[in-house]
This record gives sequence, C-alpha cells and structure tokens, in this order.
Amino acid sequence: MVRLGDVEQTRTLTPRTAVIWAVLRAELDRRAGERLSVLDVGGGTGGFAVPLAEAGHRVTVVDASPDALAALTRRAAEAGVADRVRARQGDADALAGVVEPASVDLVLCHSVLEVVDDPEPVTTALVDALRPGGAASVLVAGRAAAVLGRAMNGQLDSAAALAADPQGTAGGRDSLRRRYDADGAAALLTAAGLVVEEIHGVRVLADLLPAAVADGQPAALVELERSLAGRSPYRDLAAQLHVFARRPA
Ligand SMILES: C[S@@+](CC[C@H](N)C(=O)[O-])C[C@H]1O[C@@H](n2cnc3c(N)ncnc32)[C@H](O)[C@@H]1O
Repeated sequence: MVRLGDVEQTRTLTPRTAVIWAVLRAELDRRAGERLSVLDVGGGTGGFAVPLAEAGHRVTVVDASPDALAALTRRAAEAGVADRVRARQGDADALAGVVEPASVDLVLCHSVLEVVDDPEPVTTALVDALRPGGAASVLVAGRAAAVLGRAMNGQLDSAAALAADPQGTAGGRDSLRRRYDADGAAALLTAAGLVVEEIHGVRVLADLLPAAVADGQPAALVELERSLAGRSPYRDLAAQLHVFARRPA
C-alpha cells in the first residue's frame, strides 16, 4: 500500500488542503496497514477520493452532479485506481442505498453542508453510514471570514447583513445557504451523534494575502497556515472550518 504521505508530498499540500490532509493522515496512520472503506459525500471530481484510493483505500464518491462524477471517473482512471473508486450519483441525505449502514470507516463531507437544502438529514445520513468508531471529516464555510472579506472589499451592507443573519448568509445573491462558526459546526455534528475531536481553520490567511505573496512563498504560507489552524483567534477567522469527529464505538 502506498503511504498517504508520499501522495501528499507530490501534489496535495496547498493552503486549501494541507491542514485537512494533516488531520486525515493522523487517522490513516492510526489505522496503518488497514484497507479502509471511505465514503466521500459530495466528493465532486475526486480531489480527496483519488489520493485516498492511491493510498490503497476503497472510496465511494456520492455526488449529485453527473459531470463531476464523470471527471472523477476520468481522474481515477488516469491515476490507475479506477478499481478502488466507485462513483454514484445520489443525494447526500440518502446514503443507505449506496453503502451498507454502519459499514464505512471514514466519511468525508467537504463544502457540502453549506449548499444543501437542510444539513441535518445529511449529518444523520453520515452518522448512519459510519461504523461505530469510524471518523467523519467535515469542512464547512466559516462565517467570520465572509464578514471580514466583504467588508474589506467595501461591501459593508453585505457584511452587516451576513453578520446579522442567523444562518450567516448575505441574502438573495449569496451563493451559500449558510455558514458556521466553530461552536455551530460542532453542535450540528454533536446533535447527529458524533463526538467532535478536533476543529481547525482552513485558509486563515490564504485569501487575505496579495497573490504575489501567496504565489511567491507557497511553502512558507502552507507552514504558517498549519501553525495557525488550531489556535484561536486565528482558527475562528478562517475561510473554512474543518471538524473531525467520531461515531462512538
Ligand atoms: C463545493 S463542491 C465540493 C466538492 C468536494 N467535496 C471538494 O471539497 O472539493 C460541492 C459538491 O457537492 C455536490 N452536492 C451539492 N448538493 C448535493 C446533494 N444534495 N447531494 C449530493 N451532492 C451534492 C455538488 O455537486 C458538488 O460536487
């Protein structure tokens, strides 16, 4: 089996992914030598699914978009892991038809809870899919970063609306249905029956820096993101929050 670390080194360490891979790697190391059953809900074109398959795990990607799944299938074939990646069109809140209940070791749900109609049936479905002791990697949009980002762009009305809205949206033209702070994201997963183990900020700085800095010093930026990700107040200002949680054994 290929170590995930080898795959990571080659192409996955960016400000968008480094913190998440560090958390996932710790879980995969904990279960070293096992071929895990992974479910990537709303997994899109396979940015996480394909490296996990390359590391030897069996990955099922459920996504509503046939185009995304077609791209995933091509990507898996190009990487030589088509036999370990299953692409299934489906809805994030109806996973029982795709995987056996309580059969999954690791479920990913990245950048999905903020776009679905209702996040609660999705989190319930994630928990039902997990084996007792299985882990969930959940990435959601951060509310504070969206307020700051709009304000820094001069969109003060939009920043104020977003800060005041209980769902953390800026109204009709907002592309997301909701955003989270760390407590809200943890509460959502806890209510579904998971035990939250870690919360990190993803892209604390990356979206704030001039492109010349971000592009000119990519390794330093990744290192700084990793060092700030778990520390308040930096974590709470990140563009995204990564919550790692577990179904009790
Ligand atoms: C922002 S993309 C994130 C893709 C991937 N998880 C990532 O982090 O790169 C959101 C994905 O969720 C999928 N999606 C949105 N609503 C969904 C739903 N109700 N059921 C399943 N997939 C959904 C979209 O088709 C899209 O591929």
